Amino acid sequence: MAIMVTGGAGYIGSHTTDRLIEQGQDVVVVDNLLTGHRAAVNAKSRFYEGDLRDRAFLNRVFDQEEITGVVHFAANSLVAESMAQPLKYFDNNDYGFIVLLETMIAHDVKQLVFSSTAATFGEAKEMPITEETPQIPTNPYGESKLVMEKFAHWADVANGLRWVALRYFNVAGAKADGSIGEDHHPETHLIPIVLQVASGKRAKLQIFGGDYPTPDGTNVRDYVHVMDLADAHILALDYLQAGHESNAFNLGSATGFSNLEIVKAARAVTGAPIPYEIAARRPGDPSTLIASSEKARKVLHWAPKYDDIEKIIATAWTWTQSHPEGYADK
Ligand code: UFG
Repeated sequence: MAIMVTGGAGYIGSHTTDRLIEQGQDVVVVDNLLTGHRAAVNAKSRFYEGDLRDRAFLNRVFDQEEITGVVHFAANSLVAESMAQPLKYFDNNDYGFIVLLETMIAHDVKQLVFSSTAATFGEAKEMPITEETPQIPTNPYGESKLVMEKFAHWADVANGLRWVALRYFNVAGAKADGSIGEDHHPETHLIPIVLQVASGKRAKLQIFGGDYPTPDGTNVRDYVHVMDLADAHILALDYLQAGHESNAFNLGSATGFSNLEIVKAARAVTGAPIPYEIAARRPGDPSTLIASSEKARKVLHWAPKYDDIEKIIATAWTWTQSHPEGYADK
């Protein structure tokens, strides 16, 4: 009996696999390694390289393994890229999800935890964003994830496939020992870029937009530590195993940090000057995203351990310093 983790070679998937294995679970990782890293896959898992859209491949894995539940990460997840290549997002994220759902149903696997996103809410009119806030995405990435939530809903109605959608806000940090971490090519996320500037790999940071309707004019985001997020997936699996109904949860910290505040925090952690300039806005960026995670705390009993942005950045800094080239495989 094993848990399948799709995208287990990726950033959040590798940390969740690590945690599942630490808890004694048998884990099967599926990843096409387009953005993931072989070296990020926990050595105690069984790894299958392949694409979810390859129905025959996925069938073989389900035939070969005794899968009891799936934690699904494998997807494209960049807002700006999705604005330029929307169909890539609908193909990989939504078509890939259809094949996964159909294969699960065909193999009578009825428990699914999957990644959704704050980007399904778009420019929310209320802060913090709760599960009742209307979901009106402003970019194809967010739209592709909202569509996944809808597919899952109807698969439950028709086939009894129970699911938990976890809507992440901004994920950051790394496993505390620095053995796994965040490594994207190209890197587009704020904290890793800020740390590349701190380590001298990049000359300066560009902050995209200084004229947003926020206290200092830069975007505000809600950062969650990747290990806290990993724990949320395990709690969501427990929740489904206990027989509860399908559900969606927002995962954040309820505290927003502006992009300038992130620079300040990173300066405090690294002691580096981190020069920056204000540049043009990035298409598709909402002004402010802050989550209420009350529901996850109450229903899943989620209790994030990292409540301090400097501690979150410090774990990412440990990873950056010990892996200046990331996994060095791309
Ligand atoms: N930013 C910069 N300069 C950079 C990189 C980022 O100013 O070089 C800014 C962005 O404009 C944004 C903030 O830093 O204001 C955070 O940007 P990220 O790219 O790190 O993260 P996003 O908020 O765009 O997106 C992330 C995930 C999405 C998810 C979203 C939800 O990548 O998958 O959080 O909050 F949908």
